[in-house]
Amino acid sequence: MLSGKNVLLAVTGSIAAYKSAFLVREFIKSGAFVKVIVTEAALQFVTTVTLSTLSKNPVYKDFIKDENTGEWNNHVDLGSWADLMVIAPATANTISNLVSGKADSFFLSTFLSCNAPVFVAPAMDLDMFKNKSTQSNIQLLSKRSINVIEPNEGELASGLEGKGRMEEPEEIVTYINNYFLEKATLKNLNILISAGPTYESIDPVRFISNHSTGKMGYALANEAQKRGANVQLVSGPVSLKTPENVQRIDVKSTLEMKKEITKRFDKIDVLIMSAAVADYEPKNIASNKIKKQDQEISIQLKKTPDILKDLAKIKKKQIVIGFALETENGIENAYKKMKRKNLDAIILNSLTDTGAGFGHDTNKVTLITPSEKREFELKTKDLVAIDILNFVEECV
Ligand SMILES: Cc1cc2nc3c(=O)[nH]c(=O)nc-3n(C[C@H](O)[C@H](O)[C@H](O)COP(=O)(O)O)c2cc1C
Repeated sequence: MLSGKNVLLAVTGSIAAYKSAFLVREFIKSGAFVKVIVTEAALQFVTTVTLSTLSKNPVYKDFIKDENTGEWNNHVDLGSWADLMVIAPATANTISNLVSGKADSFFLSTFLSCNAPVFVAPAMDLDMFKNKSTQSNIQLLSKRSINVIEPNEGELASGLEGKGRMEEPEEIVTYINNYFLEKATLKNLNILISAGPTYESIDPVRFISNHSTGKMGYALANEAQKRGANVQLVSGPVSLKTPENVQRIDVKSTLEMKKEITKRFDKIDVLIMSAAVADYEPKNIASNKIKKQDQEISIQLKKTPDILKDLAKIKKKQIVIGFALETENGIENAYKKMKRKNLDAIILNSLTDTGAGFGHDTNKVTLITPSEKREFELKTKDLVAIDILNFVEECV
């Protein structure tokens, strides 16, 4: 469950900080991307070189990177980068700061900026842990939906025996993994997503295509895998990185796309066709490059197969969602398209709104089903993907 996730690990000033190096390795082993923040006190116990080498990223401590240029570390950006934040070891002092909402360090400001799930692994001597202030702070954190990973009983650095030993790194990773497994709302669901444009060949060097970049389909694939689905991404030619845990199948033409989707259709639960598939392809593909001529030439086009319609016609249990790009009478045309093609929902893409449609990182969509219409604000394609997959969750 951690593969491909962005883990923000905060290390604070406990003797258990030496274990944070192992923790970074465990996260990396499970396929996560790791960035580390340290408190001033943590550096008494572990070095930035160790943490940076293991995490393959610079370690953060201060707001200001360079006094001369004024370059600074952005706590808001780092907080929103994180898919989860782990504070391990968490000292009594840090736990108290988390409760009070203090923001006088880069670490605490990042914590306050982070909307992702937070996991706190306390580490301290038994009496510090038993102390009523610590206990009441821990309870408050739990009440605020922060996940507290209970420390173990055993021998402590002070030589005393009792409860306060930070949970072992492997166990912390297992705990977090289980947390995400429980939240994996699309677990065991097979979702096929198509993305990008198609290329319809004219001759060996030329083709007809469109401006689709595939960003929307890739965002959907990424969100679906985060929710635990088995995701196959049938992709037209794009220059995007394949999301983690996603099986990508590259295709060029509409025919190839149809072939790859059709042969998988029986075994999938959800099909989301976000690819900008060509409606027409050249009737004949010249076997040699068409030479430049003095007179005009014309290319005769024939209709491509309608992948969505053909598959929705034979669907059984599958939920089939299409995309529509309309330049006029959007809602009406999209609704008709959904009915005509027997779809469960259609996502109407706006080309008329600034920042929406092809190429942008943002999109403005309306989700139309036979019984309702949900209009969404202009938002990043990652957030649009969340809205669409929330709908999928309601259907399955
Ligand atoms: C050798 C040594 C070990 C310490 N171990 C712990 C510990 O395990 N847990 C704890 O809560 N504080 C421990 N402290 C005290 C913290 O380092 C101290 O409260 C510090 O202010 C914590 O700062 P931070 O929470 O910003 O990292 C230790 C201090 C020293 C000198």
